Amino acid sequence: MTTSRAARPVGAVTRGTTNPNRLRRMDRWIVASHGGALRRAGSAVAVDLGYGAAPWTAVELLGRLRRVAPRVRVVGVEIEPERVAAAKVFEQEGLSFVHGGFELPVGEAPMLVRAANVLRQYDEREVVGVWERLCARLAPGGMVVEGTCDEVGRRHVWVALGAEGPRTVTFAARLGSLERPSDLAERLPKALIHRNVPGEAVHAFLRDFDRAWAAAAPYASYGVRQRWVRAVGDLAGDWPVVGGAGRWRQGEVTVEWGALAPRGWVGR
Ligand SMILES: C[S@@+](CC[C@H](N)C(=O)[O-])C[C@H]1O[C@@H](n2cnc3c(N)ncnc32)[C@H](O)[C@@H]1O
Repeated sequence: MTTSRAARPVGAVTRGTTNPNRLRRMDRWIVASHGGALRRAGSAVAVDLGYGAAPWTAVELLGRLRRVAPRVRVVGVEIEPERVAAAKVFEQEGLSFVHGGFELPVGEAPMLVRAANVLRQYDEREVVGVWERLCARLAPGGMVVEGTCDEVGRRHVWVALGAEGPRTVTFAARLGSLERPSDLAERLPKALIHRNVPGEAVHAFLRDFDRAWAAAAPYASYGVRQRWVRAVGDLAGDWPVVGGAGRWRQGEVTVEWGALAPRGWVGR
């Protein structure tokens, strides 16, 4: 006699903390950098991996992506079964919720996997394996965005990855909440949070950013945004900053992964 047993989802249940509108900065960047690819892909699937105790962030992701990619579908994937059951009442056209883990049981290859505040509770040594697993599931031209923010999304740092591996790191903040750019260190994603120490690139980057911020102090009289734009422009002289002042004005800066990768980085 054969018995069929559903495979166990890959990963571990972690705290379900979430909040409405928490991921707005990440979503804004996704729309700007990946919206065109999602639109061209037609009825593409976007995964909200580990949406938490309530599915607000998945509902919001659908709304935000649909403005630029009207046929996109969002699938919320959560490893804790009761959170999936609770989310079901929020299902609507283009939005569904499934029980699963890093194996991404979504039927077709996703164009986007957004994993916010999920890996933070895993061990640093697990990160590369999870990244590889998620990237291997992507549709051609797809993207993984993995990162961490505070409870209400004022401070956020994420890594963007393509099929080949990590590409960029983005720092984003409500600028008025920052005393200095290195305040963002507390929200570094798991791959970098333990690397904010002398001798590591991310530490040197935040040190240089603080210096540029201090040098840009006179611009504060024009507003904190002007000061940030000036500091990032300065920083771009020494670090491979991606994108222009249009993004910086949003309170963002994106840097090539290779410049911030941990020492001895052996990932792809
Ligand atoms: C802190 S909550 C984050 C909720 C939401 N993404 C946010 O940023 O507000 C993390 C959620 O990820 C889920 N999770 C952890 N590992 C997972 C995995 N391997 N697959 C799916 N969900 C996972 C946890 O069960 C938890 O509900």
